[in-house]
Amino acid sequence: KVFEDSQAASRAVAKEIAKLIKVKQSQKQPCVLGLATGSSPKGLYSELVRLHQEEDLSFKNVVTFNLDEYYPMQPDSVNSYVRFMKTLLFDQIDILPENCHIPDGTLEKAEIADYCSRYESKIESLGGIDLQILGIGGNGHIGFNESGSLQNSKTRLVALDHITRVAASKDFAGLSNTPKTAITLGVKKIMEAKRVILLAWGEAKSTIIRTSVEGQVTNQVPASFLQEHNNATFVLDKGAASKL
Ligand code: GLP
Repeated sequence: KVFEDSQAASRAVAKEIAKLIKVKQSQKQPCVLGLATGSSPKGLYSELVRLHQEEDLSFKNVVTFNLDEYYPMQPDSVNSYVRFMKTLLFDQIDILPENCHIPDGTLEKAEIADYCSRYESKIESLGGIDLQILGIGGNGHIGFNESGSLQNSKTRLVALDHITRVAASKDFAGLSNTPKTAITLGVKKIMEAKRVILLAWGEAKSTIIRTSVEGQVTNQVPASFLQEHNNATFVLDKGAASKL
C-alpha cells in the first residue's frame, strides 16, 4: 500500500490498530501487538499517543512484545529499546507496565536460551501475535533477523551484520561502542502473527523494498519471507515504493 507520505501512512496503520484494540475489548480479549523500534514506527507511535489523549483510546487490554534488544544493554541506557519504547509510547498511554515485554539485554549469556523460549511461550499462551509491526534494515533484516536467518528461526541471540552496526553506530558514538550482538524474536514467530505490517519510508529503502517484494524468497533477505504470509502488507511512502 503506497501513501502520499509517512504521516498519512502512519495514521492509517494507527487506525487499524485502534480498531483491532476495540474489537478485542468488546470480546474481553487481550490484544497482542508485536512492536518494532527504529525510526520507521515513530510516527505510528505518536499517532497512537494522540488517539489515547484526544480520542480516549485505551490500551488496558493491550499486551506488547518487542522484536528485539541489543545485547548487552542496560534498560536505562540512552540507546536501549526499553528507553525508546517508554519515551515514545508506553509512558504516554494507559498500558499496564506488566503487559509490556522487551527482550532483556541484562541477562547472563547462559540464561539467554531459556529466556528466549519463555518469551515465545508467553506469546503462545496469549494465542499468538494479533498484529506485528516491522521496519526493515538496509539488508532486508526484520527485527534483528539478519541475512541467513532461517524461516523457522527461533527467538535467540544473534550476531549483528557489519552493515547493521554501521547504521547503528551514529547512535552509539562510533562503531567501537556499537553492540555486536542482540536478542531477536525469530522469523517463525513473526510469520505466525495473524497480521503483519511492514513500514518503510524514503528512497533509501526503495531498493531493498523491491528486492523483498518482487525478488526471490530467500533467507539472504529475511523480509522476502513475508511474500509467503497470508496477511502481510508493506505500507510505504512514495519514496520507498519508487522502484516497484
Ligand atoms: C534496527 C531494528 C529493526 C528496524 C531497523 C530499521 O535494526 N532492530 O527492527 O527495522 O533498525 O530501522 P529504521 O526504521 O530506523 O530504518
